Amino acid sequence: MPHVKINGTEHEFPPGMNVLEACRSIGVQVPHLCYHPALKVVGSCRLCKVEVVRNDRRWIDISCKLEVADGMEIFTDSPAVVKARRMTLEFLLANHPLDCPVCDEAGECKLQDFYFQYALHDSRMIEVKTRKHKAQDVGPSIVLDGERCVLCSRCVRFLADITHTFELGIFGMGSREELSVKPGGRLDNEYAGNVVDICPVGALTDKDFRFKRRVWYLRSAPSVCQLCSRGCNVRIDYDLDPYHINKRTFQMRTHRTEATAYQRIQRVKPRPNQAVNGYWICDLGRYGYRSTDTADRLLTAMLRSEDELKSVSLPDAVRAMAKGLGSALKGTKNKLAVVVSPLLTNEEVFAVWSLFHEKLALPNLDHRLPIDPDWTGDDLLRTPDPFPNRMGCEWIGFLPGEDGVGVKELPDAIRSGKVDTLISILADPMMFLDEPAVKRLKRRYIIARELTEGSRSWADVMLPAAAWGEYRGTFTNFQGRVQRLEAAFEPLGDARPVWSLMVELSAALKKNLRWKSADEVLRSIGLSVRLFQGLALDEIDAEGVMLGSQGKRAAG
Ligand code: FES
Repeated sequence: MPHVKINGTEHEFPPGMNVLEACRSIGVQVPHLCYHPALKVVGSCRLCKVEVVRNDRRWIDISCKLEVADGMEIFTDSPAVVKARRMTLEFLLANHPLDCPVCDEAGECKLQDFYFQYALHDSRMIEVKTRKHKAQDVGPSIVLDGERCVLCSRCVRFLADITHTFELGIFGMGSREELSVKPGGRLDNEYAGNVVDICPVGALTDKDFRFKRRVWYLRSAPSVCQLCSRGCNVRIDYDLDPYHINKRTFQMRTHRTEATAYQRIQRVKPRPNQAVNGYWICDLGRYGYRSTDTADRLLTAMLRSEDELKSVSLPDAVRAMAKGLGSALKGTKNKLAVVVSPLLTNEEVFAVWSLFHEKLALPNLDHRLPIDPDWTGDDLLRTPDPFPNRMGCEWIGFLPGEDGVGVKELPDAIRSGKVDTLISILADPMMFLDEPAVKRLKRRYIIARELTEGSRSWADVMLPAAAWGEYRGTFTNFQGRVQRLEAAFEPLGDARPVWSLMVELSAALKKNLRWKSADEVLRSIGLSVRLFQGLALDEIDAEGVMLGSQGKRAAG
């Protein structure tokens, strides 16, 4: 293993590692623009310079293309390095527009950061800056500003090596070189949004976020995407202050893909996790946040009275539901079926399972919803299963008991009168039943995030469930990795996480479940399900925890 001295301290690094990564691994940051750990190294920005001493030679080199070698000495901030970086920055800024005040990247722009860190000089340019194409609509979600581009080629390499779609290229020569879509092409693929994340300046901006918020107003919460069973790691950037919403802001949103009302989530960004999603997310996950603040959100409990669904307080609705369940449970327990969506967190599924399996010994439980035939996976990240927690539901055992009725058998069981009461949790009954079957049921209890036309016409009681971003908990992805979601903000209206609704319902049924938090529920799962033994929410790190198939757990 090569021994290398960095800023006077000796370290050992694996052979083949580049100096930039070696510095990063010991907490020494080297400024860079074109280098990205998941992309081919091209060494084009020349900013990652370090001073190298080896075999009595001393020179300045770019660290992203230089491999560690035994006996090498590296200086990352010597006067010679700082001077060289200042000069490189001056070249990079020579034709860069001074539009930081109106650039979406301001506040998280690498060029801006490095200028403040190393340059801070006045411009010596007397020539007119080179003009390039501004604000080009290059794809359904992306705007390109040719003047801001520093030609680092990160986006070009991403589209060549990761998506293999090759939409962008660098054309022209010398100071006229410019990033552009290939002639007649559009930047239009399922992963296009990632080019905005890897652009180190504001050349590629996201139509959905453009002119929406200054980044310093945003707060962030780590979460997990809920739109397929991979569970890509994401960061929810949100703003709870509607101060910015005024007429003028709306008028400025000319590039937005749609004009939405006030949304708390402003954007979703990938969180790197090499074991799950690398550095990327798909556009479905990136823009799938809108359902949290959709106009159709169910904000209060609803109860059918005089053939009309009316808003009531949550305790009233829970009492009515408990009363109905009491009547349904009087005869045989086989008359009641509970269907949950694998959209529920482990904690939520377990709470439903505890009440209906452990406390009430119901056999008709299932989570195996049919998959939309239009859903397809791909060979990058998206899996063929659109549900984020199918594995968790299976391990917890949310399945029909002996002689129990599952989702597949439910239509026949309703038709024959074997089942007459349905509790459907985050699962639209129209996904697995037809309308006559739903209408044939004696009692229909729905726990949902949204109020659909269907449920408005036939639900007897509806309880409002918290939406993505509003609850804490865990998903188990298709690999068997348990990953933590943090709540970014409080649920809207009377909505609650499903485990909390189960606590309320259990009290009304005199079957007391007593959890006060998702953490407590997860500890209870550990007491019932061997794989989850000893798992605590706060101890699940950024990579998640991999649960082994033999009941052994390995850190992720
Ligand atoms: Fe090394 Fe750009 S990061 S040359």
